[in-house]
Amino acid sequence: MTRAPLLSVVVPTRDEAANVGPLLARLSSALAGVDHEILFVDDSDDGTPAAIARTAAGDARIDVLHREGSDRTGGLSTAVVSGIHRTRGEFVCVMDADLQHPPEDIPGMLAAAREGADVVVASRYVRGGSRRGLGGTGRRQVSRVAGAVARGLFTEARASSDPLSGFFLCRRRVIDGIEFRPVGFKILLELLVCVPGLRVRDVPLDFAARAGGTSKASLRQGLLFLAHIRSLVFEVQGSARPWKFGLVGLSGLAILLPLIALLTGTARVPALAAFLLAYPPSLVWNTVLNRVWTFADQRHGLGEGTARYLERAILSGAAMFGAYAALLSLGGAPLLAAAGGAVVAMVLNGVANRAAVRRRPSLWSEVALGQGIQAALTRLADEIGASRATLLPATGPTSGALPSGIVERVVEQRRGALFTEAAGHRAQRRSNVEVRSTLMVPVVDGDEVAAVLVCERVARHPFDGDQLDAAMTAARALGGLIADNSGGRHRTQSLRPDALNA
Ligand code: GDD
Ligand code: MN
Repeated sequence: MTRAPLLSVVVPTRDEAANVGPLLARLSSALAGVDHEILFVDDSDDGTPAAIARTAAGDARIDVLHREGSDRTGGLSTAVVSGIHRTRGEFVCVMDADLQHPPEDIPGMLAAAREGADVVVASRYVRGGSRRGLGGTGRRQVSRVAGAVARGLFTEARASSDPLSGFFLCRRRVIDGIEFRPVGFKILLELLVCVPGLRVRDVPLDFAARAGGTSKASLRQGLLFLAHIRSLVFEVQGSARPWKFGLVGLSGLAILLPLIALLTGTARVPALAAFLLAYPPSLVWNTVLNRVWTFADQRHGLGEGTARYLERAILSGAAMFGAYAALLSLGGAPLLAAAGGAVVAMVLNGVANRAAVRRRPSLWSEVALGQGIQAALTRLADEIGASRATLLPATGPTSGALPSGIVERVVEQRRGALFTEAAGHRAQRRSNVEVRSTLMVPVVDGDEVAAVLVCERVARHPFDGDQLDAAMTAARALGGLIADNSGGRHRTQSLRPDALNA
């Protein structure tokens, strides 16, 4: 394998034979001083690969991945994702082939990334940018509305003025190991929503008119955009959180209000008592939905989070009750009073949960930075119910308790693993026997696996997928910290929470 270049440029192409020659010419002068590679991911039937080969003239830095048949499934989105995975530059730039994205902008974008940005977006919507190249007012309107929808729904998309831009550059380490599943054209949006907490910089893009060939934008692309939005809302845990939180609140009202109507109407229960009876079911409903949906990404066990959530919910319930009673005493009908109380409670709830509603991807690094790696390990062990959490060196002899080869596999494949040993060689009839269960997660620092995080437990219930996820979240945060903190990445650290208490 040759050395990884500083920059990889990924260019998806479909029937761009007329454009790739001029594009390569401009790229090669724009990137003259930059250590780079260029990968075309091509789904063309018009001889685009031949046109690339003619211009590239044997330049080893230029490569084409030509796809046929079922490999083309997913079109542009899979093209860009596989292009990103196949290249190795420390920075990756994605751009269109039709010269709507001026190659001359790349050095500036690279400079911005080297100054510290994780993602640099060439934006049509910042000062100095323009979208003169967007054909027709209809297309412009659609683009405006789509951008507003994306930014309105996803807090993370607001980091850029143009989250739907097809021209961006990012630091590879922020996307390393993330499986992107975009649908359609909006790869950048996928990246922003799936990797929260990125440092994003916009640079102006003068979006030129298409040089040759035709745009692949169509009604179908529009529908795919909606499908992508749907997937980002429902298949990305913790995304669009304020909206999910609000929807759950509304759905709670759909339980509370009919119950109050029923109790005060047919059942003739006094209005104040009716509230006290109707509130608990809606509270349970809200709590469960918020836990499994709104806060699905914050799975630190059942304890702490839920207690804090319930505390707030009961406070807002009390405020709601107060408002309800006040409105009743002013002569309001029970339903109207309850609706009024709900408005008060929702505002309060929203304010109280504001911090929680924002994502906190850095929780683990905060613990590790503030209190040290050992503290982070102890806390993790507590949260997932492990008897201990340990860091093993990524190389060298492994602990005898682990099956041979498994640490090597975790390091090589860079994947978390979960295994459980049965109590004996026969299926057990008793349900209270204990099994040994082990989680192993690579701690990736830059390009290498710095350590393997191992959590063990001997209990009636083995670890599950949620706990594996929690360990991966913790491992990600530990990534950059091991080297600075432990004075060496080859030292084994281990701590038993029970030893601390003793
Ligand atoms: N490999 C591959 N497969 N490439 C494709 C496919 C496909 O199925 N469809 C399109 N491409 C390539 C095109 O050849 C071009 O290089 C690039 O993807 C963008 O396609 P265009 O057809 O030029 O898209 P556009 O100009 O309408 O849309 C551009 O602007 C949008 C913002 O308004 C793109 O950059 C979008 O990503 C961007 O959202
Ligand atoms: Mn285009």
